[in-house]
Amino acid sequence: MITAIVGNKWGDEGKGKIATRFTKDAKIVMRTTGGDNAGHTIIYNGAKIPLHLVPGGITVPDATAIIAPGTVINPTILLKEIELLKQHRVPGIDERLKLSGRAHVIFPFHIDADRLEEKVKKNPVGTTGRGIGPAYADRCKRTGVSIYDLLLSEDELCDKIEEETFLLNQNFANNGMADCVVDAKKLAHQYHLFGELLMPYIIDINPLLAKALDNDDNICIEGAQALMLDLFHGQYPMVTSSNCSTAGMLCGGALPPNVPMTIYAINKAYESKVGNGLFPTRLPSSTDFDVQPKELLPGDVIRENGHEYGTTTGRPRNCGWFDCCINNTGRTIMGPNYLCINHLDTIGKVGKILGSVKICTAYHYQGRVIDYFPDNTGLTKETPSPIYEEIKGGWDIDSSCESFDDLPSPAKEFVYIVEEHAHTPVKFLGTGPANDDLIVRDI
Ligand code: IMP
Repeated sequence: MITAIVGNKWGDEGKGKIATRFTKDAKIVMRTTGGDNAGHTIIYNGAKIPLHLVPGGITVPDATAIIAPGTVINPTILLKEIELLKQHRVPGIDERLKLSGRAHVIFPFHIDADRLEEKVKKNPVGTTGRGIGPAYADRCKRTGVSIYDLLLSEDELCDKIEEETFLLNQNFANNGMADCVVDAKKLAHQYHLFGELLMPYIIDINPLLAKALDNDDNICIEGAQALMLDLFHGQYPMVTSSNCSTAGMLCGGALPPNVPMTIYAINKAYESKVGNGLFPTRLPSSTDFDVQPKELLPGDVIRENGHEYGTTTGRPRNCGWFDCCINNTGRTIMGPNYLCINHLDTIGKVGKILGSVKICTAYHYQGRVIDYFPDNTGLTKETPSPIYEEIKGGWDIDSSCESFDDLPSPAKEFVYIVEEHAHTPVKFLGTGPANDDLIVRDI
């Protein structure tokens, strides 16, 4: 049985919190797409461990943690994470962490290329600057270096790096970045050593997965990024460079689509976004101004109450009201069985400060009312204009709220409105920062 934890908006929905619930009973926990552009902090024996690549389920003592073929790996980051996990005495790292040899390598020149590509774009994406796009692009161009390639001889690896960087070096030289031109020999030496360090973890994951599927073991896929950042189905070009929607996650994980699976689509009770691109329900915020306004603006109120700063980049996130239209678009792409809504407590506090909580249930767009995120905004150049339902006031959720029935009525109304307009049942409600601050509905 597969449990897939997928991001349903623009990332940072709190997937880790829900994943923790399912990884407890999993034999296999997996990261299947993306790279160190993702980030979450796990708590182990009271200590906070920030991770970008290793699945959070690594702390489950007898789970095998797989980093799958669909990922792109910066070896420096991965080796640091392994070291950190060992320092915190997470048991059995060498035995339980498995890295697919088919994953691809992010080199420092990919990070430089990320910078260059953003620099020459009229409308930059606002990437995390981790070299994700350039590494996936090389993979598509079939010049990429896989993790297996790090195990080749140094000379063979050097040839591959030379091939991968042949055109890029010209771009660096022609665009004021001559200092980034790659010394393939030096890099091959360094990355060959990384290959030796990573060797104990590198495997062919297919036999392992075949056995798990034959035994009907629980497999938990810890999604990275989200629907609106998917390369094919998100808001192109303001997307990441992997298919981080549900089917893409299966593909990246070398898992077939016909396995029994439950898909939990993770949301917050409001929206947040880093990077550029349309955000219909975005609220004004002080980051819109060079001179800071004296009062907190609505977007700031959500950001400060929800602590919305990027885990990977520290960037302040833009914030806005919950958007059911995106959920509707996601129904066919993500296939959620259930929704999870984190930060139900936060939006209650925000409502108390701002006087009401709003939920976008439809858009005015091109003279019509629609209930989905249109795919031709690049053509029309029109930002869909939200139509809101409004719940007056806000609410407090304290530790006495243990079940859905205990919730204040406006908080329940919030959930009913989302269910009605997103056409998906809400199973989990995050009511505080701790993993246990979670109401599980019996539906
Ligand atoms: P990239 O993945 O670094 O190429 O960035 C592409 C876009 O995806 C940018 O808007 C990033 O801010 C966004 N992005 C990538 N990973 C995450 C994530 O884990 N959370 C939120 N946004 C992300």
